[in-house]
Amino acid sequence: MCGIVGIAGTKDCAGAIVDALRRLEYRGYDSAGIATLVQGKIDRRRALGKLSALDAVLRDRPLPGHTGIGHTRWATHGKPSELNAHPHATDKVAIVHNGIIENFRELRAELIAKGHKFESETDSEVCAHLISQYLDEGLPPEQAAKTAIKRLEGAYALAMIFKGEEGLLIGARMGSPLAVGYGVNEAYLGSDAFALAPFTNRVSYLDDGDVVVVRGPEVKIYDVQDRPANREIKVTSASAGLVDKAGHRHYMAKEIHEQPEVIAHTLAHYLDPDARTVRLNEPRLAKALAEAMRLTISACGTAYYAGLVGKYWFEQLARLPVEIDVASELRYRQPVYPENGVALYISQSGETADTLAALRDAKAHGQVTIAIVNVPESTIAREADIALPTFAGPEIGVASTKAFTCQLSALAPLAIAAARARGHMDLATENKLCSALLGAPRHIVEFLKQESRIEHLGGEVAKARDVLYLGRGVNYPLALEGALKLKEISYIHAEGYAAGEMKHGPIALIDEKVPVIVIAPHDALYEKTVSNMQEVMARGGKVILISDKAGIAAAGAQVWQTVEVPEADPFISPLLYAVPVQTLAYYAAVAKGTDVDQPRNLAKSVTVE
Ligand code: AGP
Repeated sequence: MCGIVGIAGTKDCAGAIVDALRRLEYRGYDSAGIATLVQGKIDRRRALGKLSALDAVLRDRPLPGHTGIGHTRWATHGKPSELNAHPHATDKVAIVHNGIIENFRELRAELIAKGHKFESETDSEVCAHLISQYLDEGLPPEQAAKTAIKRLEGAYALAMIFKGEEGLLIGARMGSPLAVGYGVNEAYLGSDAFALAPFTNRVSYLDDGDVVVVRGPEVKIYDVQDRPANREIKVTSASAGLVDKAGHRHYMAKEIHEQPEVIAHTLAHYLDPDARTVRLNEPRLAKALAEAMRLTISACGTAYYAGLVGKYWFEQLARLPVEIDVASELRYRQPVYPENGVALYISQSGETADTLAALRDAKAHGQVTIAIVNVPESTIAREADIALPTFAGPEIGVASTKAFTCQLSALAPLAIAAARARGHMDLATENKLCSALLGAPRHIVEFLKQESRIEHLGGEVAKARDVLYLGRGVNYPLALEGALKLKEISYIHAEGYAAGEMKHGPIALIDEKVPVIVIAPHDALYEKTVSNMQEVMARGGKVILISDKAGIAAAGAQVWQTVEVPEADPFISPLLYAVPVQTLAYYAAVAKGTDVDQPRNLAKSVTVE
């Protein structure tokens, strides 16, 4: 993640921008930079490293100007360097960007062919040159920006200033957050409300697809169809210490919506977006995975279900035998650990007592231990031989959502690395799988546009006493995760089952009062799952089918309700299909009126066995 800020001010703004960037350093600090208009011309100061380095540059070479943008960077495309630091600029426009522009290579080639010269290795610089191209073609700034933004693919938040346009600030949001701040004769843009807290507590949050045009204190917002849009101005309680809900009703909702950004952030750590290969070259890791006779995976709750998805990936891609169990069971059954085995532990908090105990037991049995954790300084991260971070950011909601999909975003590259180390993955396949992963944020942004439909469905599910979730293959763990989500936040009894198991008993539960949620992308196992679905409907069961367009079309009209997920490579279906099951559970809980963020009897991190 990166942090972006913009100010259309009435006085010199460089110092205020640095203050705001300081509140965004938690998003990354590989480099930082500022651009302002000085007598109408764009001028920049950039520095490698933390904000203190930029501060020093500004002390030596102050930067006047009332209109400006700033950025603190966590490097994705292109190493940390001053040349790769934002803002990126031509003589006509300067931009700051948070996210990933997936089609940057094609756009860069097109612009180079038109004579543009690039100075950085970043995807972001393409935005500056693309907008500049449209300015050169005679479009006014707002049109040039909107035309360029429509051509971008990926998850991004942007802020920009234009030569000769004092007081003009344009921003755009698609998958990465962007807030608008309303001041006295001034207006602001920022990655979140507490970056803007020094200037104002009156904030609107943009929706995906929005473009905002600030002219001095005047703010105009346009939706994805370029229609004027009103985004509610909220008075935020954000302050330096508080993580705010970013305009959502619950932290869980905010964290569901953060997934495009934090998945992109986690993937950027493990994938080379240019080469479309996995960047996991730690020798110890490759050696351990290459030589492992068996991989043991252990975790608790949602993290365990992430591990269960991982089992399919490790066995199918790397041909690596996997033994998996919940941490509270594993060590008590005295498993037989292989001589040179590897053991993988997954934990959002990195403090779950059961998982920690299982890790210690495996270490005592000579296993090489790897941990996938969201808190790098946690106990599990420190005690594992190799710690692999996820970049979900603080997860406040007790029900794990973005941590789960970030765990999958680390597991998939790890499984690819294992396949490569064990000689079961050629470069073409690696490129294909990495490209599929890099497209996940965009597909999730697309899915979340139909949230109001899921809200309605959640209200229907909330009426049930019992709910079943069915899935097959790599989506079977999604059925388990969906059931857990519903149970823990709405208190409705739910069970996840392998779809093929229904006929061996659970189908006795089926009647018209038991919704059956079927997770079935139109993949190789779809036909099998559809026949299980028919068995359920033949007995009066009400099926909610979560599938893609092809799957929904093939399912026929008897299905009670459908939820459409964008078509995508089956490899990333666990990442994509996690979001419908999360949102369905969320809205069922909202309909039930439970305490969504802090459900009864639960704790965010279970540090007792
Ligand atoms: C997930 O929604 C639950 N709150 C819970 O199952 C959680 O996943 C489990 O306690 C493991 O926590 P950890 O990831 O911090 O180890």
